[in-house]
Amino acid sequence: MKISIIGAGYVGLVSAACLAKLGNEVTIIDIDEERLHAIRNRVSPMYEDGLDELLGQVHLEVSADYQKILPSDVIFMCLGTPSDESGIILVYIKEAAKEIADILKTKQDYCVVAVKSTVIPGATEELIIPILETSGRKVGDDFGVCMSPEFLSEGKAIKDFMNPARIIIGQYDSKSGDTLCGLYSAFKAPIMRTSLKAAEMIKLASNAFLATKISYINEIGNICKKLGIDTYEVAKGMGFDERIGNRFLNAGIGFGGSCLPKDLRMLVAKAKEIQYEPEILEAVLQLNATLALNMVNLLKKHVPLKGAVIGLLGLAFKPGTDDVRDSQAIKITEVLIREGATVKAYDPLAVTNFNKLYPQIQYVTKEEVLNSDAILIVTEWGEFNNLDYRGKVVIDGRRVAKAREARIYEGVCW
Ligand code: UGA
Repeated sequence: MKISIIGAGYVGLVSAACLAKLGNEVTIIDIDEERLHAIRNRVSPMYEDGLDELLGQVHLEVSADYQKILPSDVIFMCLGTPSDESGIILVYIKEAAKEIADILKTKQDYCVVAVKSTVIPGATEELIIPILETSGRKVGDDFGVCMSPEFLSEGKAIKDFMNPARIIIGQYDSKSGDTLCGLYSAFKAPIMRTSLKAAEMIKLASNAFLATKISYINEIGNICKKLGIDTYEVAKGMGFDERIGNRFLNAGIGFGGSCLPKDLRMLVAKAKEIQYEPEILEAVLQLNATLALNMVNLLKKHVPLKGAVIGLLGLAFKPGTDDVRDSQAIKITEVLIREGATVKAYDPLAVTNFNKLYPQIQYVTKEEVLNSDAILIVTEWGEFNNLDYRGKVVIDGRRVAKAREARIYEGVCW
């Protein structure tokens, strides 16, 4: 099929490369020239395992010009939906929808516009379709619309794309859904066809559930720590029950990244807008927000912060990525600086991105981080399990086994 992907972020670029690998003709559109330049040179603008290799194997048409999407059978919208204090920023989605509408004006043949960005339930119907129809073309007759959320995890995005657990196709009508089903027939996963709104909600509810599972085990962890019980032993024991499962029960300093926190905030905001108090979801966010501070408070029990040199092991929101968006390392660094500590940090991939936020801290080798008054483990990179922690003060936010050899060792919630 002829596919266009609007937005060359994680979801867009991984989807583009994978769909091209599956034999489709793929055009990728982005307004960021620097990003396009990198992709033209077959280099991913962000770190993702295997993506450079894949970009080297496939042909992608790369452009900032929306005219290039004219021959498409399917146009995927993969724009970011970041948030700030005032709420979710939908400007990128709206701008892209206007550009697509412009193309629809002159497009003779039927195509499907498929939203992959994570959006508030109702956004495809109430926001995106009306903009597309400013083209004078009618949804259902001249073009179709789907909402097909993506379930990629950073660090294993290609594997997730190629082996999905499920494919959700929210459809405006069955003709729209049929087109997307045709594209996805290459995958072995179950395909579920739903309304547009249900598809939007499946994505948000899935991420909210994962976040809830993490906050849940962190709460159990806070209780276990006070009772002198090993939370990881408890999680393991719980996980044998198939109804509970053993994944996403790693207690620590909580969830970050560009998805879980933002999607939860999006869902909370929508619930409140319709006069519903989402108590569980708010508690999940609230507990997550306390964890970085708890870690620093544990540290203060052993080392006064003013004038101390504190080492951070890990800056990325999780291992396997250079992404620092909503990383717990940000909140920790903020408090450490505020309280007068000198911060040294190491991360195998995320230093460049973290340095954009905190140029004032020192970026050093992991061995140099060990040479601090105390060490905080923020991301569970495998290489941190090979360090010599003997004689050190370590506050562990991610359960690194070797760190237990430290002179003073504290797990954040175990
Ligand atoms: C998440 C979801 O897992 C994907 O299914 C979804 O497609 C994606 O968001 C998205 O919406 O695009 P991702 O943000 O890449 O993926 O990261 P996760 O692997 O979910 O981890 C999120 C955070 O939770 C990390 O900070 C991680 O350290 C933390 N976490 C995860 C824990 O603290 N404990 C755990 O047991 C698992």
